[in-house]
Amino acid sequence: MNKKIFIGNWKAYLTDPEAVELAHAYVSTAEECGSEWVVAAAPSFTALERVSHVFDGSPVVLASQDGFWEDEGAYTGEIPMSTLQDLHVRFVIVGHSEQRKYRGVTDEMVARQAEAAHDHDLTAVICVGETEEEKEAGRREEVVGGQVRAALEHVEDAERIIIAYEPRWAIGSGDPCSPEEAAEVHTMIAGILKERYGKSGAKIPILYGGSVDGDNIDGYLRQDLIGGVLVGGAGTDKEDLRRILCGS
Ligand code: PGA
Repeated sequence: MNKKIFIGNWKAYLTDPEAVELAHAYVSTAEECGSEWVVAAAPSFTALERVSHVFDGSPVVLASQDGFWEDEGAYTGEIPMSTLQDLHVRFVIVGHSEQRKYRGVTDEMVARQAEAAHDHDLTAVICVGETEEEKEAGRREEVVGGQVRAALEHVEDAERIIIAYEPRWAIGSGDPCSPEEAAEVHTMIAGILKERYGKSGAKIPILYGGSVDGDNIDGYLRQDLIGGVLVGGAGTDKEDLRRILCGS
């Protein structure tokens, strides 16, 4: 059986010293309970190097919350994928809904990020998800399906791709999408991946994200189609982390 994937998205919740402290908790929890999991964590850019030293030689994978598509040039404020690679990052989150919402990141940009990640041997964690209004209007399939297709436009093979279905209304709201409903969307996404990459598309993990915590994790783990979870708030809480990875 494939291992489930756990990615902690630490967002801008922590100072760098707090990130280093949490990184140690990730290592000890993953060493104790992580045999059924691939465990990853995405600190802020400024903490990547320090956290990288903590994860070195441990089972925990270093992830980045974002990354830019060009390798160098006049791009103020951007962090290229090549820089992430130098810092021993292996997963890079692209198209997170907070990037789409606050920085105007578009499907076209996500496609370029996914391609650049792929070219740099990084695993792109491609986030997709509809807003509450889109859901109410019955447009979920169209929106999420469109985001998946667009993001993969320039990625020619199914290696090193993870899709994270994160409905925007469920992120940070304490109102998660039910495991059954998430599994329906995952089925739709799996169909698109198969259409795009044939058999190898079926191996692409599809994660769920949005208000996952130690109380509700079991329901998601019971769904075969849910390959793991992308966890924000609860992923910065040592107790929740332990309950998710070790079981309650
Ligand atoms: P949340 O965030 O777990 O705090 O809802 C998930 C995410 O944004 O990846």
